[in-house]
Amino acid sequence: MARKVILDVDPGIDDAVAVALALFDPRLEVVAITAVAGNVSAEQATRNVQAIVEQIDPPRLPRIGAAVRPERDPLVDARHVYGADGLGNSDFPVAELHHLHPSDKVITDEIRQAPDSVTIVALGPLTNIATVFRRDPSLAEQVGQLVIMGGTYRGPGNITPAAEFNIYCDPVAAREVFRSKTTKTLIPLDITSQVVMTFDLLDQLPDESTSVGRLLRRILPYSFRAHRQLFGLEGAYLHDPVALMALLEPALFETERMAGDVEVQGEITLGATVFDHRPAPQWRPNIDVATSVDSAGVIAAILRGLKQAAQ
Ligand code: BDR
Ligand code: CA
Repeated sequence: MARKVILDVDPGIDDAVAVALALFDPRLEVVAITAVAGNVSAEQATRNVQAIVEQIDPPRLPRIGAAVRPERDPLVDARHVYGADGLGNSDFPVAELHHLHPSDKVITDEIRQAPDSVTIVALGPLTNIATVFRRDPSLAEQVGQLVIMGGTYRGPGNITPAAEFNIYCDPVAAREVFRSKTTKTLIPLDITSQVVMTFDLLDQLPDESTSVGRLLRRILPYSFRAHRQLFGLEGAYLHDPVALMALLEPALFETERMAGDVEVQGEITLGATVFDHRPAPQWRPNIDVATSVDSAGVIAAILRGLKQAAQ
């Protein structure tokens, strides 16, 4: 039976690729896609989720959750990487959807409907997940599994020397989620950064006659250009699809059980993920962290998934 999944996303070009993969994967039943502010504003993130689903037009329509504007103005966004609209300035039209429920309500409903059976794949800041657990702490233990793209284990951050984007955007939420009783797996930046999609792989995307091919061929080139300009990289990171692959192809990853927390106050370490590796650790293990990845295997799995999405 397909695994029930909620994708919590802040699209973002790499989020869009992950959504495309998940919507067509027969191993998954995507019950909802919930938007969160991060790469782009709350309004734009919601609009982008709608646009991606409409462009892809999947066989089964997921529920969509609307992102809620954060209480504090975000310190950063990632429009420099993904374009002013987060999707490579593609300016996709979206149908007017009335009565969209906020993301936290959609997540709450889905967990209550299928306790212990829903996997949440969190590919943006952890704002929505923390809101759900804050409003009803019992829900933390009713999530089947939570897979998080975020933080760093051994490598540097990508927003500050210490912090990765998703955690830095809402460190307080991230701390609450890390400390929650949910079964969780972290796919940190030092793992996702080992998987680089090179230019030649663009040719292997599904062709323009398919909805997924049209979408990806329209948004990915922007990301490649930005990666070259910003990071001098001849290719593009696909952080979020890599995290999705940790769920779909766990044999391609090694994980270790760790005791992790998030810095919420540091002047230069705000948003850093910290793990208790003292010889006699005092924190209780609370999270599985990916410590190695078979990069070639993940790229192959992503390309297989995209081909499958085009059939
Ligand atoms: C994460 O930050 C976002 O910009 C990407 O979509 C990804 O989720 C990588 O640090
Ligand atoms: Ca993201």
